[in-house]
Amino acid sequence: MFLSACVGVTSIIVFLVSPTFAVDTTADPQLVAKLKMAATMLDRLDLLSDEQLLYNFSANPMYSWNPGSVCNANAATWPALATTGVTVAQLNLGPCAMLAPHLHRAINLVVAVTGSTHTYMVQENGARLVEQILTPGLMTMFPPASLHSMYNMGCENNQLYSFLNDESPGTLNIAQSFFMMPEEIGMQVMPFINLANGSWNGTAQLIPAIGTGSQDGFEACRKKCGLTGDGS
Ligand SMILES: *[C@@H]1O[C@H](CO)[C@@H](O)[C@H](O)[C@H]1NC(C)=O
Ligand SMILES: *[C@@H]1O[C@H](CO)[C@@H](O)[C@H](O)[C@H]1NC(C)=O
Ligand SMILES: *[C@@H]1O[C@H](CO)[C@@H](O)[C@H](O)[C@H]1NC(C)=O
Repeated sequence: MFLSACVGVTSIIVFLVSPTFAVDTTADPQLVAKLKMAATMLDRLDLLSDEQLLYNFSANPMYSWNPGSVCNANAATWPALATTGVTVAQLNLGPCAMLAPHLHRAINLVVAVTGSTHTYMVQENGARLVEQILTPGLMTMFPPASLHSMYNMGCENNQLYSFLNDESPGTLNIAQSFFMMPEEIGMQVMPFINLANGSWNGTAQLIPAIGTGSQDGFEACRKKCGLTGDGS
């Protein structure tokens, strides 16, 4: 009885831990709660030190250039934003690095600081595919819940900033969430999928991890930048 209860608890923990999706962990839930209960912005200022009013993107746990990262300043990572209705994300893309197709429950404005970044956006069913090339000082918009993706076209690091009108805009990656549907549903939508070892769940495990928010780019770009394994 005791043993089976332990096994049950263990398997629940394994189940919860196994999909290694990188999400922001809430740094200070007590401070966020206090900020949300405060009556005025003046009261909130008194809850925050000068130090807590400064955000250092380089210290974000996701910060990485290999292959890249999405560093969110949001209600989870920066309590000061708890009641503001905004998120700012620093996008760091190594050579060819890409953001897999995903969406948010917020408007997303993206501004390029360096390099050239190719973006793709589908607003909704019936909408055309919108493509842009963002170079320094150019901005594009991804409306709430639009599907979007981007990659660094160059062989140098690229940086962009992303602005969202919600302190908790969320990010939903399409490939991982599609494979969380039952196999019967997924295979009826895409009957041509070649399942690895005939396993729906096994195939899902082959989707590049969300990790720090960015993944390696595609072969042609990597080849151009001399990043492929065979060095060609
Ligand atoms: C920002 O964070 C980085 C990484 O932790 C650190 O090296 C740097 O000194 C910080 N900058 C400031 C101004 O604190
Ligand atoms: C696939 O994963 C789902 C969700 O984790 C689970 O309910 C199901 O039993 C798994 N199927 C197989 C065949 O492992
Ligand atoms: C497929 O099966 C082989 C042999 O059992 C195993 O090594 C491999 O990891 C499996 N691949 C997937 C995606 O499950």
